[in-house]
Amino acid sequence: MQSLWTATAALPEYEALNGDRRAEAAVIGAGMAGILTARLLKEAGVDVVVLEADRIGSGQTKNTTAKITSQHGMIYHKLAEVFSAEAAVHYASAQEKAIGEYRRIIAEYEIDCDFAECSAYLYSRKEAGPLLKEAETAKAAGIDAAFTEETELPFPIKGAVRFGGQARFHPLKFLGGTAEGLTIYEHTPVLTVEGNRIKTGRGTVTAEHIIFACHYPFINVPGYYFMRMHQERSYVKALEGASLPEGMYYGIDEGGLSIRRAGNLLLLGGGSHRTGENREGGRYRWLLEQAREYWPQCRERFRWSAQDCMPLDNIPYIGQFSGDTPNWYVATGFKKWGMTGSMAAAMMLRDAVTGRENPDAELFSLQRFTPSASAVSFVSEGAHAVKNLTRRIFAPPRAETEELPCGHGGIVEYEGEKAGVYKEEDGTLHVVSVKCPHMGCQLEWNPDEKTWDCPCHGSRFDYRGKLLNNPAQEDLETAEQ
Ligand SMILES: Cc1cc2nc3c(=O)[nH]c(=O)nc-3n(C[C@H](O)[C@H](O)[C@H](O)COP(=O)(O)OP(=O)(O)OC[C@H]3O[C@@H](n4cnc5c(N)ncnc54)[C@H](O)[C@@H]3O)c2cc1C
Ligand code: FES
Repeated sequence: MQSLWTATAALPEYEALNGDRRAEAAVIGAGMAGILTARLLKEAGVDVVVLEADRIGSGQTKNTTAKITSQHGMIYHKLAEVFSAEAAVHYASAQEKAIGEYRRIIAEYEIDCDFAECSAYLYSRKEAGPLLKEAETAKAAGIDAAFTEETELPFPIKGAVRFGGQARFHPLKFLGGTAEGLTIYEHTPVLTVEGNRIKTGRGTVTAEHIIFACHYPFINVPGYYFMRMHQERSYVKALEGASLPEGMYYGIDEGGLSIRRAGNLLLLGGGSHRTGENREGGRYRWLLEQAREYWPQCRERFRWSAQDCMPLDNIPYIGQFSGDTPNWYVATGFKKWGMTGSMAAAMMLRDAVTGRENPDAELFSLQRFTPSASAVSFVSEGAHAVKNLTRRIFAPPRAETEELPCGHGGIVEYEGEKAGVYKEEDGTLHVVSVKCPHMGCQLEWNPDEKTWDCPCHGSRFDYRGKLLNNPAQEDLETAEQ
């Protein structure tokens, strides 16, 4: 299933790294965060290279909905309550500066990426009270925010918060334009990083500054990101024949929808769940039901899904990777708002590498740990990660898999051991280990994507066991049937 973006953009191709080289800075990952960081570092005069495991934009960036907005759900009121009013100001300032930086880059490099200025709305069908508070706090934090009851939505609402001066665009057209002139190595997965040295399958890079922009950091210690984040997955459909709003919308109630236009298509998103917790499936079906109810004439053109890292206290991790690694940096935990998040990260990381002050950086640093905001989840993220399974893969006897219908997958238990089984439409069986190679949690079957997903930190594998999403770095063990 390809997204609207991959179907409508041709990205430049780059050679793989072959041999050893040096650079002032090396960025791991060529998604939105990695490419923007490299662009801003290059502009600041830093000699920078980018190492990408697959193709540029091939991670979550190709499957985003690409709203460029400071409106990240109901964040400002929470920030002011849990942290301080000043924290809300710094959060707002980082996102608003990021929107401005998108305008600058698009104008300066003349990037044709369907960029359109618009407003963003949070809406509720249940209550106006929390939205009134959110509008007030966001306005106090410096955003052009106001409560309203006027929207273009095809259903009644109790209220909405409107942010002016936001935007939408085509993320891959933008990424391709921004990458032009950068030194990028594709098909170059980073295997290990030690001190200043990055090791890949076919060469090394030695760099003074190393930036992990690889979505979920694949190094467990130091940093302990596996204790700080899980991943959440959401689903999107692109529909034709629906009415097209100018604004971008995001519902805050359970089952709320994310809505924006892209040319003559309506993008409808929703159905979020923790990665690895979608045993029942039916997310695309649910989205289609929503679409049919509000836009009965619409037809599906594209469908896709993606996932993002959810930090403990709602603030991304941007800055020094850990206390023990002064020359390593990270940009992660964008909680599905990684368009402004990536740009804000790129600006902060450029400043960190070049020794400039950045007034917003402290709020995003790993050192910000606040017990009141994080303690409970810190314990539960850790606790989620301690299930025990044997890694050895066995092939369950054919009798145990006979009842599994074609086109379905699931876990088969036999004599106290477990294996993941998927049966293709023609009856071919694929058997994989359900022990996640990252830290050993039990994988769960996702029937909407036909993938094995890890509930602990969100690694994903296709039904043949091939790695799709990190932090795991290896494929699953498989058994021949
Ligand atoms: C359904 C959905 C809708 C969203 N919509 C929006 C939106 O409207 N607005 C918004 O602001 N945000 C949105 N987001 C969030 C946004 O899409 C992400 O936060 C953003 O794309 C993350 O970019 P990234 O560069 O961090 O990660 P990625 O795009 O995943 O890039 C990471 C790159 O690192 C590479 N990599 C990984 N490991 C290695 C390794 N060992 N060596 C080399 N390379 C490696 C990967 O191949 C990948 O290309 C959405 C998220 C979801 C799930
Ligand atoms: S992703 Fe960490 S154990 Fe699976």
